[in-house]
Amino acid sequence: MLEITLWGKKFKNPVIAASGTFGFGREYNELYDVSVLGGIATKGLTLKKREGNEGERCYETAGGMLNSVGLQNPGIDYFIENELTFMKSLNTVIIANLSGGSIEEYVKGAEKLDKSDVDIIELNISCPNVKEGGMNFGIKSKVAREVVREVRKVVEKPLVVKLSPNAEDIVDMAVSCVEEGADGISLVNTFKAMAIDIYKRKPVFKNVFAGLSGPSIKPIALRMVYEVSKAVDVPVIGLGGIRDYKDAIEFMMAGASLVQVGTANFINPFACIEIVKGMENFLKVQGINSIGEIIGIV
Ligand code: DOR
Repeated sequence: MLEITLWGKKFKNPVIAASGTFGFGREYNELYDVSVLGGIATKGLTLKKREGNEGERCYETAGGMLNSVGLQNPGIDYFIENELTFMKSLNTVIIANLSGGSIEEYVKGAEKLDKSDVDIIELNISCPNVKEGGMNFGIKSKVAREVVREVRKVVEKPLVVKLSPNAEDIVDMAVSCVEEGADGISLVNTFKAMAIDIYKRKPVFKNVFAGLSGPSIKPIALRMVYEVSKAVDVPVIGLGGIRDYKDAIEFMMAGASLVQVGTANFINPFACIEIVKGMENFLKVQGINSIGEIIGIV
């Protein structure tokens, strides 16, 4: 009922744990059987290990969560040697989120991941928390084209490009990435934002800016998924503030073939499985035989 096959990969359901919210799956697997999920996206990976940003990394506001993690990760080699076997044992689709500071770094990382056992590579050109690379590749379509083109040359696995809501023109950005060979588009990453500590008279974050996520970005993300999915002929993965099955169904009706759940995992660690169950129930009650029937019906 919820099963969906894309890029030759079978997803048990369309619900994927978004990058940066499940680590490499170890902690959540102690809470519940994560093999019930459609997939897991890894924490953003870079060629070399990164310690991440100094100072505050997370901050709650009435409008959502701000993060400035700065791509802390153990590096791609470590991931492949020490985490991937475990992840594959979880019996769900593994999506490696790849970031980089330069085109060369993206390409080298992509080469390694393509030779590994991951199922899909998600090219992250949308991290707002690093000075080099990250979102700097995801604002102007012309710049994004270069990195997608070079990475495509070395990747045989399905290549999904993760977009920033800060792109100058989200539709042109998505179309450009597909023209350069992207097999899918995921959107949106966090919004570039900030907060100020009024007593210290300073920004909360050392880098000044951080990424905003959570329910407040949902209507904007939904609109972007709607527009992009009408403009490209590859599958779209929708994310941005999905909290429950109703949000997930909205994104699918807007045109997403899969959804990712991020911030909600921090508020309710069982969010993903509750969404899977809620979607199943929704289809039953509505008399819908297959989830595919609602993709893009709006
Ligand atoms: O908001 C984000 N934070 N998006 C990313 O892509 C990476 C992450 C981080 O590590 O800062």
